[in-house]
Amino acid sequence: MKKDKLHIHWYPGHIAKAERQLKEQLSLVDVVIEVRDARLPLSSSYTNIKKLLGEKPRLLLLNKADLTEKNELKKWVEYLKISTGCPVFVTDAKGTKDLSFVIKNAVELSELKIQALMAKGLLRRAARAMVVGMPNVGKSSIINKLTKSSKTKIGAKAGVTRQQQWVRINPNLELLDTPGIIPTRQDNQIQAVKLAFVSSVSENAYSPEPVATALLEMLEKYPQVKEYYGVDFLSLDAVALSRNWVKKGGEADTERTAVYILKDFREGRLGLFILDELPQ
Ligand code: G4P
Repeated sequence: MKKDKLHIHWYPGHIAKAERQLKEQLSLVDVVIEVRDARLPLSSSYTNIKKLLGEKPRLLLLNKADLTEKNELKKWVEYLKISTGCPVFVTDAKGTKDLSFVIKNAVELSELKIQALMAKGLLRRAARAMVVGMPNVGKSSIINKLTKSSKTKIGAKAGVTRQQQWVRINPNLELLDTPGIIPTRQDNQIQAVKLAFVSSVSENAYSPEPVATALLEMLEKYPQVKEYYGVDFLSLDAVALSRNWVKKGGEADTERTAVYILKDFREGRLGLFILDELPQ
Protein backbone atom coordinates (compact mmCIF):
# COMPACT_ATOMS: atom_id res chain seq x y z
CA MET A 1 0.00 0.00 0.00
CA LYS A 2 1.38 3.42 -0.94
CA LYS A 3 1.10 5.86 1.95
CA ASP A 4 3.20 8.85 1.02
CA LYS A 5 0.25 11.19 0.39
CA LEU A 6 -1.73 12.81 3.15
CA HIS A 7 -4.33 10.13 3.47
CA ILE A 8 -5.35 8.01 6.41
CA HIS A 9 -6.45 4.54 5.42
CA TRP A 10 -9.39 2.94 7.12
CA TYR A 11 -10.97 -0.44 7.08
CA PRO A 12 -14.79 -0.50 7.12
CA GLY A 13 -14.83 -4.22 8.03
CA HIS A 14 -12.79 -3.67 11.21
CA ILE A 15 -14.91 -0.69 12.11
CA ALA A 16 -18.18 -2.57 11.74
CA LYS A 17 -16.82 -5.34 14.00
CA ALA A 18 -15.61 -2.85 16.62
CA GLU A 19 -18.99 -1.09 16.58
CA ARG A 20 -20.81 -4.39 17.13
CA GLN A 21 -18.54 -5.19 20.05
CA LEU A 22 -19.07 -1.76 21.57
CA LYS A 23 -22.86 -2.04 21.24
CA GLU A 24 -22.74 -5.39 23.04
CA GLN A 25 -20.79 -3.88 25.93
CA LEU A 26 -23.06 -0.86 26.05
CA SER A 27 -26.09 -3.08 26.48
CA LEU A 28 -24.68 -4.13 29.87
CA VAL A 29 -24.34 -0.72 31.51
CA ASP A 30 -26.48 2.05 32.99
CA VAL A 31 -24.05 4.92 32.51
CA VAL A 32 -21.18 5.72 30.16
CA ILE A 33 -17.97 7.57 30.95
CA GLU A 34 -16.78 8.95 27.62
CA VAL A 35 -13.09 9.88 27.47
CA ARG A 36 -11.81 12.33 24.87
CA ASP A 37 -8.36 13.72 24.22
CA ALA A 38 -8.46 17.29 25.55
CA ARG A 39 -6.27 18.40 22.63
CA LEU A 40 -9.12 17.37 20.30
CA PRO A 41 -12.36 18.00 22.21
CA LEU A 42 -14.47 17.46 19.08
CA SER A 43 -12.35 15.34 16.77
CA SER A 44 -11.70 12.65 19.39
CA SER A 45 -15.38 11.82 19.55
CA TYR A 46 -17.83 10.22 17.21
CA THR A 47 -20.16 12.62 15.44
CA ASN A 48 -23.02 10.23 16.10
CA ILE A 49 -22.05 9.23 19.63
CA LYS A 50 -25.56 10.12 20.79
CA LYS A 51 -27.08 7.65 18.38
CA LEU A 52 -24.64 4.99 19.53
CA LEU A 53 -25.42 5.51 23.21
CA GLY A 54 -29.17 5.97 22.84
CA GLU A 55 -30.75 7.24 26.05
CA LYS A 56 -27.87 6.20 28.29
CA PRO A 57 -26.61 8.96 30.55
CA ARG A 58 -23.08 10.02 29.76
CA LEU A 59 -20.28 11.73 31.62
CA LEU A 60 -17.62 13.42 29.54
CA LEU A 61 -13.93 13.52 30.51
CA LEU A 62 -11.42 15.64 28.61
CA ASN A 63 -8.29 13.69 29.45
CA LYS A 64 -4.63 14.65 28.94
CA ALA A 65 -5.59 18.10 30.17
CA ASP A 66 -1.94 18.51 31.21
CA LEU A 67 -1.08 18.81 27.48
CA THR A 68 -3.46 21.74 26.90
CA GLU A 69 -3.66 25.39 27.86
CA LYS A 70 -5.88 25.65 30.97
CA ASN A 71 -7.89 28.79 30.12
CA GLU A 72 -8.64 27.62 26.60
CA LEU A 73 -9.76 24.25 27.94
CA LYS A 74 -12.15 25.95 30.38
CA LYS A 75 -13.97 27.52 27.42
CA TRP A 76 -14.30 24.07 25.85
CA VAL A 77 -15.74 22.65 29.05
CA GLU A 78 -18.44 25.34 29.06
CA TYR A 79 -19.15 24.79 25.37
CA LEU A 80 -19.41 21.02 25.70
CA LYS A 81 -21.63 21.22 28.77
CA ILE A 82 -24.13 23.21 26.72
CA SER A 83 -23.79 21.35 23.43
CA THR A 84 -23.92 17.82 24.90
CA GLY A 85 -26.06 18.43 27.99
CA CYS A 86 -23.64 16.15 29.90
CA PRO A 87 -21.49 16.84 32.94
CA VAL A 88 -17.99 17.61 31.59
CA PHE A 89 -14.72 17.39 33.55
CA VAL A 90 -11.05 17.69 32.75
CA THR A 91 -8.69 14.94 33.87
CA ASP A 92 -5.01 14.12 33.86
CA ALA A 93 -4.85 10.38 34.26
CA LYS A 94 -1.07 10.54 34.72
CA GLY A 95 -1.35 13.11 37.51
CA THR A 96 -1.92 12.60 41.21
CA LYS A 97 -5.46 14.04 41.53
CA ASP A 98 -7.96 11.37 42.47
CA LEU A 99 -11.04 10.75 40.36
CA SER A 100 -13.62 10.26 43.10
CA PHE A 101 -15.73 13.01 41.49
CA VAL A 102 -16.12 10.77 38.44
CA ILE A 103 -17.47 7.96 40.63
CA LYS A 104 -19.85 10.31 42.43
CA ASN A 105 -21.21 11.72 39.16
CA ALA A 106 -21.59 8.30 37.54
CA VAL A 107 -23.65 7.12 40.51
CA GLU A 108 -25.82 10.24 40.39
CA LEU A 109 -26.43 9.91 36.66
CA SER A 110 -27.57 6.28 37.07
CA GLU A 111 -30.00 6.97 39.88
CA LEU A 112 -33.03 7.46 37.61
CA LYS A 113 -32.49 4.05 36.03
CA ILE A 114 -31.99 2.34 39.40
CA GLN A 115 -35.15 4.01 40.72
CA ALA A 116 -37.05 2.83 37.64
CA LEU A 117 -35.92 -0.76 38.32
CA MET A 118 -37.01 -0.47 41.93
CA ALA A 119 -40.38 0.85 40.81
CA LYS A 120 -40.79 -2.42 38.93
CA GLY A 121 -40.32 -4.30 42.21
CA LEU A 122 -36.60 -5.16 41.88
CA LEU A 123 -34.17 -4.74 44.77
CA ARG A 124 -31.77 -1.81 44.63
CA ARG A 125 -28.52 -2.78 42.92
CA ALA A 126 -25.24 -1.04 42.18
CA ALA A 127 -25.18 1.04 39.01
CA ARG A 128 -23.08 -0.37 36.14
CA ALA A 129 -20.70 1.85 34.25
CA MET A 130 -18.15 1.58 31.48
CA VAL A 131 -15.45 3.77 30.02
CA VAL A 132 -15.54 4.39 26.26
CA GLY A 133 -13.42 6.40 23.88
CA MET A 134 -11.19 6.36 20.85
CA PRO A 135 -7.84 4.56 20.94
CA ASN A 136 -5.10 6.13 23.07
CA VAL A 137 -7.22 8.81 24.73
CA GLY A 138 -6.38 7.34 28.15
CA LYS A 139 -9.28 4.95 28.80
CA SER A 140 -7.16 2.25 30.50
CA SER A 141 -5.32 4.85 32.57
CA ILE A 142 -8.67 6.22 33.78
CA ILE A 143 -9.96 2.73 34.60
CA ASN A 144 -6.76 2.03 36.56
CA LYS A 145 -7.22 5.21 38.57
CA LEU A 146 -10.89 4.54 39.23
CA THR A 147 -10.23 1.00 40.41
CA LYS A 148 -6.97 1.62 42.25
CA SER A 149 -8.39 1.58 45.74
CA SER A 150 -10.84 -1.23 45.04
CA LYS A 151 -9.62 -4.32 43.31
CA THR A 152 -12.72 -6.43 44.04
CA LYS A 153 -13.24 -8.34 40.84
CA ILE A 154 -16.77 -9.66 40.85
CA GLY A 155 -16.65 -11.79 37.76
CA ALA A 156 -18.89 -12.13 34.76
CA LYS A 157 -22.60 -11.55 35.25
CA ALA A 158 -25.08 -14.34 34.79
CA GLY A 159 -26.54 -14.22 31.33
CA VAL A 160 -23.52 -12.51 29.87
CA THR A 161 -21.75 -14.90 27.54
CA ARG A 162 -18.65 -12.88 26.79
CA GLN A 163 -15.85 -12.64 29.33
CA GLN A 164 -16.67 -9.27 30.81
CA GLN A 165 -14.93 -8.59 34.09
CA TRP A 166 -16.47 -6.17 36.57
CA VAL A 167 -14.87 -4.33 39.45
CA ARG A 168 -16.88 -3.15 42.44
CA ILE A 169 -15.79 0.44 43.04
CA ASN A 170 -18.13 0.93 46.03
CA PRO A 171 -21.57 -0.41 47.05
CA ASN A 172 -23.21 1.89 44.51
CA LEU A 173 -21.03 1.39 41.44
CA GLU A 174 -19.57 -1.45 39.39
CA LEU A 175 -17.24 -0.75 36.50
CA LEU A 176 -16.56 -2.90 33.46
CA ASP A 177 -12.81 -3.32 33.60
CA THR A 178 -12.24 -3.35 29.84
CA PRO A 179 -12.86 -0.12 27.99
CA GLY A 180 -15.19 0.19 25.02
CA ILE A 181 -13.26 1.29 21.99
CA ILE A 182 -14.94 3.82 19.73
CA PRO A 183 -13.41 2.98 16.35
CA THR A 184 -11.81 5.94 14.64
CA ARG A 185 -13.92 6.24 11.49
CA GLN A 186 -11.65 7.92 9.07
CA ASP A 187 -14.05 8.92 6.35
CA ASN A 188 -13.57 12.50 7.57
CA GLN A 189 -9.93 13.03 6.57
CA ILE A 190 -9.40 16.28 8.49
CA GLN A 191 -10.52 14.60 11.68
CA ALA A 192 -8.46 11.50 10.82
CA VAL A 193 -5.26 13.50 10.37
CA LYS A 194 -5.79 15.23 13.72
CA LEU A 195 -6.31 11.82 15.31
CA ALA A 196 -3.02 10.70 13.77
CA PHE A 197 -1.30 13.67 15.49
CA VAL A 198 -2.35 12.28 18.89
CA SER A 199 -1.73 8.58 18.04
CA SER A 200 -5.41 7.68 17.93
CA VAL A 201 -4.97 5.98 14.58
CA SER A 202 -2.55 3.16 14.00
CA GLU A 203 0.84 4.13 12.56
CA ASN A 204 0.23 1.56 9.82
CA ALA A 205 -2.56 3.73 8.45
CA TYR A 206 -0.40 6.67 7.35
CA SER A 207 3.12 7.76 6.58
CA PRO A 208 4.69 10.25 8.98
CA GLU A 209 5.93 12.88 6.50
CA PRO A 210 2.59 14.23 5.22
CA VAL A 211 1.06 13.97 8.70
CA ALA A 212 3.96 15.89 10.31
CA THR A 213 3.76 18.47 7.51
CA ALA A 214 0.04 18.96 8.23
CA LEU A 215 0.87 19.34 11.93
CA LEU A 216 3.53 21.97 11.18
CA GLU A 217 0.98 23.91 9.08
CA MET A 218 -1.36 23.93 12.07
CA LEU A 219 1.41 25.02 14.42
CA GLU A 220 2.76 27.72 12.09
CA LYS A 221 0.94 30.45 14.05
CA TYR A 222 2.68 29.55 17.33
CA PRO A 223 6.05 31.35 17.63
CA GLN A 224 7.23 29.02 20.41
CA VAL A 225 7.35 26.08 17.98
CA LYS A 226 9.65 27.99 15.59
CA GLU A 227 11.74 28.99 18.57
CA TYR A 228 11.93 25.39 19.78
CA TYR A 229 13.32 24.24 16.43
CA GLY A 230 15.34 27.41 15.77
CA VAL A 231 13.67 28.12 12.39
CA ASP A 232 11.92 31.11 10.77
CA PHE A 233 9.17 29.03 9.21
CA LEU A 234 7.98 25.51 9.85
CA SER A 235 8.74 22.85 7.26
CA LEU A 236 10.27 19.39 7.44
CA ASP A 237 13.34 20.57 5.51
CA ALA A 238 13.88 23.62 7.68
CA VAL A 239 13.58 21.65 10.93
CA ALA A 240 15.78 18.82 9.59
CA LEU A 241 18.54 21.19 8.60
CA SER A 242 18.31 23.21 11.80
CA ARG A 243 18.54 20.02 13.91
CA ASN A 244 21.10 18.43 11.62
CA TRP A 245 18.80 15.49 10.95
CA VAL A 246 20.42 14.88 7.58
CA LYS A 247 21.37 11.93 5.44
CA LYS A 248 24.80 11.24 4.01
CA GLY A 249 25.59 14.12 1.69
CA GLY A 250 23.74 16.65 3.84
CA GLU A 251 20.25 16.15 2.40
CA ALA A 252 17.41 16.65 4.92
CA ASP A 253 16.22 13.35 6.41
CA THR A 254 12.55 14.27 6.27
CA GLU A 255 11.28 10.86 7.31
CA ARG A 256 13.28 10.84 10.55
CA THR A 257 12.40 14.50 11.11
CA ALA A 258 8.68 13.78 10.71
CA VAL A 259 8.85 11.00 13.31
CA TYR A 260 10.70 13.26 15.77
CA ILE A 261 8.29 16.16 15.26
CA LEU A 262 5.26 13.95 15.91
CA LYS A 263 6.97 12.60 19.04
CA ASP A 264 7.84 16.11 20.26
CA PHE A 265 4.21 17.18 19.80
CA ARG A 266 2.75 14.08 21.46
CA GLU A 267 4.98 14.44 24.49
CA GLY A 268 4.13 18.13 24.96
CA ARG A 269 7.60 19.47 24.12
CA LEU A 270 6.25 21.92 21.51
CA GLY A 271 3.86 23.53 23.98
CA LEU A 272 0.25 23.17 25.07
CA PHE A 273 -2.33 23.11 22.27
CA ILE A 274 -5.98 22.47 21.48
CA LEU A 275 -6.20 21.72 17.79
CA ASP A 276 -9.96 21.89 17.26
CA GLU A 277 -11.68 25.22 16.60
CA LEU A 278 -14.08 26.25 19.34
CA PRO A 279 -17.45 26.79 17.61
CA GLN A 280 -18.91 30.25 18.17
P1 G4P B 1 -6.32 3.90 25.86
O1 G4P B 1 -6.69 2.88 26.90
O2 G4P B 1 -7.41 4.88 25.61
O3 G4P B 1 -5.82 3.33 24.58
O4 G4P B 1 -5.14 4.79 26.45
P2 G4P B 1 -4.07 4.46 27.62
O5 G4P B 1 -4.70 4.58 28.96
O6 G4P B 1 -3.37 3.20 27.28
O7 G4P B 1 -3.09 5.71 27.43
C1 G4P B 1 -2.41 5.93 26.22
C2 G4P B 1 -1.16 6.73 26.49
O8 G4P B 1 -1.54 8.02 26.98
C3 G4P B 1 -0.26 6.14 27.56
O9 G4P B 1 1.07 6.52 27.23
C4 G4P B 1 -0.68 6.85 28.82
O10 G4P B 1 0.33 6.87 29.81
C5 G4P B 1 -0.93 8.24 28.26
N1 G4P B 1 -1.89 9.01 29.06
C6 G4P B 1 -3.08 8.61 29.53
N2 G4P B 1 -3.68 9.61 30.19
C7 G4P B 1 -2.86 10.68 30.13
C8 G4P B 1 -2.94 12.04 30.62
O11 G4P B 1 -3.91 12.47 31.24
N3 G4P B 1 -1.88 12.85 30.32
C9 G4P B 1 -0.79 12.42 29.61
N4 G4P B 1 0.18 13.30 29.37
N5 G4P B 1 -0.69 11.15 29.15
C10 G4P B 1 -1.71 10.30 29.41
P3 G4P B 1 2.10 5.52 26.61
O12 G4P B 1 3.22 6.32 26.10
O13 G4P B 1 1.40 4.60 25.68
O14 G4P B 1 2.53 4.70 27.82
P4 G4P B 1 3.28 5.21 29.15
O15 G4P B 1 3.80 6.59 28.93
O16 G4P B 1 2.24 5.18 30.22
O17 G4P B 1 4.33 4.18 29.33
